[in-house]
Amino acid sequence: MPITIKSSREIELMTEAGRILETVHNELAKALHPGMTTLEIDRLGEELIRSYGCEPSFLNYNGYPASICVSVNEEVVHGIPSPHRFIREGDIVSLDAGVIYKGYHSDAARTYGIGHISKEAQRLIDVTRECFFEGIKYAKEGNHLFDISAAIGRYATERGYGVVRDLCGHGIGTQMHEAPEIPNYSQGRKGPLLKAGMTLAIEPMINAGTWEVSWLDDDWTVVTKDHSLSAHYENTVLVTEEGAVILSLSGYGKRDGDGQI
Ligand code: MF3
Ligand code: CO
Repeated sequence: MPITIKSSREIELMTEAGRILETVHNELAKALHPGMTTLEIDRLGEELIRSYGCEPSFLNYNGYPASICVSVNEEVVHGIPSPHRFIREGDIVSLDAGVIYKGYHSDAARTYGIGHISKEAQRLIDVTRECFFEGIKYAKEGNHLFDISAAIGRYATERGYGVVRDLCGHGIGTQMHEAPEIPNYSQGRKGPLLKAGMTLAIEPMINAGTWEVSWLDDDWTVVTKDHSLSAHYENTVLVTEEGAVILSLSGYGKRDGDGQI
């Protein structure tokens, strides 16, 4: 499948989808507390998504049974919300959510510490977010896709972290997963040329230990092979001639005034 270039109307719809998804994440962040179950997080997330006139894109996607992926500690991504899993002080919790607004997708993930967390855990969360910002420096017309991949991988590796290789970011638009796949480490080649109007979900998944992962028996939950902590940070971004505009986070790359391109 070719990489699609979005029209200004499509970008408007994806901008709104991103704005809503950012709000959902901010509301979820406020609600997180020790003693909450991961299913309660999912229920609140689904309610919020629907209250803004969107559909949760993850629900029933390839059989995934929830609207929010909740991944705790050594869980990398795709944790399945459960009424039996309580989040506790000291945990790190990744929330991944996707919305569909008038046929257009937005996809974003955040990792939070619950109450007081170790310095090591906080550093992992911070570096994972920094990896994303390092990567999107290259999300600009005329650069190559794997410039983003290499920048993310370099930033994490230099700091001693493992970069998950089994899962990637992706193009996004009328589908949650569109071309291209976006690895989070150097490919040793350039990849496709980036053009204004491409929309990408860039999502570093970074481990405190080895990059290697395995799958739990539920066939969804990805965990680190060495049980070290893992963090995830993702936004939906628009490539422009000047650089990246983050659609699922306010205030980055938008032109003065109206937030429109
Ligand atoms: N953000 C993830 C992704 O980009 C979540 C989708 S997994 C799902 O692939 F199955 F839960 F939808
Ligand atoms: Co994604």
